[in-house]
Amino acid sequence: MCGIVGYVGTPAAGGAGVDGTEVVLEGLRRLEYRGYDSAGIAVVAGGGVQTRKKAGKLANLVEVLGADPLPAAATAIGHTRWATHGGPTDANAHPHLDASGRLAVIHNGIVENFALLRAELLEAGTPFTSETDTEVVAHLLGRAHAADPAAGLAAAMRAVCARLEGAFTLLAVHADEPGTIVGARRNSPLVVGLGEGANYLGSDVAAFIAHTREALELGQDQIVTITADDVVVTGFDGTPREGRRFHVDWDAAAAEKGGFPSFMAKEIHDQPQAIADTLLGRTDAEGRLQLDEMKISEAELRSVDKIVVIACGTAAYAGQVAKYAIEHWCRIPVEVELAHEFRYRDPVVSERTLVVAISQSGETMDTIMAVRHAREQGAKVLAICNTNGSTIPRESDAVLYTHAGPEIAVASTKAFLAQITACYLLGLYLAQLRGNKFADEVADVLAQLHEIPGQVRQVLDGLEQVREIARYMADTRSVLFLGRHVGYPVAMEGALKLKELAYIHAEGFAAGELKHGPIALVEPGQPVFVVVPSPRGRDSLHSKVVSNIQEVRARGARTLVIAEHGDTDVEPYADVVIRIPRTSTLLSPLLAVVPLQVFACELATAKGLDVDQPRNLAKSVTVE
Ligand code: M6R
Repeated sequence: MCGIVGYVGTPAAGGAGVDGTEVVLEGLRRLEYRGYDSAGIAVVAGGGVQTRKKAGKLANLVEVLGADPLPAAATAIGHTRWATHGGPTDANAHPHLDASGRLAVIHNGIVENFALLRAELLEAGTPFTSETDTEVVAHLLGRAHAADPAAGLAAAMRAVCARLEGAFTLLAVHADEPGTIVGARRNSPLVVGLGEGANYLGSDVAAFIAHTREALELGQDQIVTITADDVVVTGFDGTPREGRRFHVDWDAAAAEKGGFPSFMAKEIHDQPQAIADTLLGRTDAEGRLQLDEMKISEAELRSVDKIVVIACGTAAYAGQVAKYAIEHWCRIPVEVELAHEFRYRDPVVSERTLVVAISQSGETMDTIMAVRHAREQGAKVLAICNTNGSTIPRESDAVLYTHAGPEIAVASTKAFLAQITACYLLGLYLAQLRGNKFADEVADVLAQLHEIPGQVRQVLDGLEQVREIARYMADTRSVLFLGRHVGYPVAMEGALKLKELAYIHAEGFAAGELKHGPIALVEPGQPVFVVVPSPRGRDSLHSKVVSNIQEVRARGARTLVIAEHGDTDVEPYADVVIRIPRTSTLLSPLLAVVPLQVFACELATAKGLDVDQPRNLAKSVTVE
């Protein structure tokens, strides 16, 4: 939530050279998925600080800058906002200035004690121009700096951070220190981009990927000062700290639309690659599975008696799919818990519990807090994450990275498939380690997994019918999704995609639950998607789901059935059959969800909606 960019370059002779506003604008374009309620930029130039800011999407700010350009500058900060304190207005847009107008601040997070601090400042006669918690920080910083200008902006930042409660990333510039940006982070993301004669700050690496792929990870409660040729990191107490350097393994092109009409369309198309890359290089010379960063011993993993998956939204549905696979392969009970519920119900976890935190961004605050709670209770935490340098992997005992590349569209697609793939790898790894499966059995499942990218490609190539149906259904007001076993989380994910992209009422149900209430929703013409398991499964799952299709059809539903090639049992009861290739039931979510993603994307597009930036949402939910 909220995107933050900072840039300090080398001013060229005569003021020419790379312009800070351009660099920051480009970073904001790449971060806009983090929030799009307003945007703003501040530059340090001509002995002062100047800002431009505007409510609404970045395009509005670009218009303002066209009419009233900022002066050329080598130091600039920029912000794209997801509103918390104060509505999405021009006045509440960042940057915020202190009373002198010589200091500007941008902020991501929530300062929880802002009301108290604001009252104190008002009492002292400080004038406020916004309703934000951020403006409080600007005034506090301005006062701290004015009290001891010689100590500098970093010292002022340290003093102010000591007074703030809550979660925050802050960037500040001051007219007295024209070639410097000071940043601070607590429970909110901030990474440093290391350039040649220029350095960068960003909420994530996308902010500066067009300029450098070398980055520095910052820890909690750290202050960073960047100039064009130096980066200094300290703790909030001023003691020197070292960030962890890393190389970003994707480039700027990976964060472009690449000829697709939207990032979401591109990311759906990227899915075969995302799965293949997540599977890549996972076996050692002896063919044994390996994880990325493992600080959990084999003995500890052997003694695990329960797994708890914590995640939110789509990542939680990936966890629900994982539950079926891991319980089946490893015979370890798996609970899946929404991260924001986890710590409030006093969960039963111990040293023998393995907590698996799944997160695309690695910055979801609910999941971060759940990770901390789990570790406090003595559990080991393994992160499944798509973002190097983010908080969740850094605070976990082990990491399995999904290599889906940057996911820009707010609705998660390729990260979901990569998360499920990573969960399968984890399940197989545990099964191998604990002796639940023989090496050839693990190899057999891995071989099937390696076929999935090609099968996803086949699904994608055969979806013209789904696109047509979606366009035809643009006026639909409600869609139901049914599934059993692994098809159940797929149904819920299909419903979530439709809700968030097309703003249509959609519900995903366990098909067996239908008769216990939801079937009352079915009236003539009601569209119902049904995810059908393979008829080659061992039990009666398939025939039960076929019965469920009949039940809703008998009540007038229009049935859209996702079934594997060759399953003729569904044909008499399906208004539409969407075919997917054959694979084992446990791996089938990787194929069955794809038509549902395409359906939601196409329907939202037909309604004229912005599929990359749906209303009210942000890509990384960095507040609780
Ligand atoms: O970055 P995370 O995977 O932790 O994000 C979790 C959810 O916020 C995310 O999956 C959200 O539900 C998506 N918008 C779904 O498309």
